[in-house]
Amino acid sequence: MRSMAIIGDGTAEHFDALVAVDQIAQHDPARREELRKWLASGSIRVATSGGSPIGYTVVEPSFFGNDFLVLIVVGAEHRNAGIGQLLMGDVEARERDTKLFTSTNLSNQVMQRLLARRGWHSSGMVFGLDEGDPELFYQFPQSPRLASEHDDPERVSL
Ligand SMILES: CC(C)(COP(=O)(O)OP(=O)(O)OC[C@H]1O[C@@H](n2cnc3c(N)ncnc32)[C@H](O)[C@@H]1OP(=O)(O)O)[C@@H](O)C(=O)NCCC(=O)NCCS
Repeated sequence: MRSMAIIGDGTAEHFDALVAVDQIAQHDPARREELRKWLASGSIRVATSGGSPIGYTVVEPSFFGNDFLVLIVVGAEHRNAGIGQLLMGDVEARERDTKLFTSTNLSNQVMQRLLARRGWHSSGMVFGLDEGDPELFYQFPQSPRLASEHDDPERVSL
């Protein structure tokens, strides 16, 4: 039987499962500390399949007073199945009074394709954050119609 992925708020109980999903968190104590902080502040949305977390997003109101998609992670064994699109749709569809930005490294072509597919607009490049790998910034155009055109933001079949 095909299972469904659904998205909901991250809570402290998700911590261990999100570490299992996030390869960086597995070896980086600083990422684990950030995960705890994001869970405590309600910044995390979690995609689950059959009750198990398989990916997450972090949005914080941290970019010049605007929302910023700090991070999107899909567990390695769950990639290339539309979970990234599903999580992006969830972030884009949330009501907000501010603009929505994100960024990714120039080397991260998978993320750049995902952002292009979701209709995000390029808004600049910053050198000097990661040596030799500039940061590309993007803004979501804030059209609810655009997000719903891409897919149903609520669920995806796995
Ligand atoms: C970036 C990331 C979140 C994408 O997640 P994902 O779930 O694999 O994303 P999707 O499945 O929606 O799309 C990825 C690819 O799978 C393809 N795909 C989606 N559904 C598919 C399906 N059912 N069958 C085959 N391919 C499929 C998409 O077309 C896309 O292909 P492309 O990269 O050639 O354009 C994931 O790779 C990840 O966690 N990377 C590490 C963390 C990271 O770099 N985050 C971004 C910066 S914060």
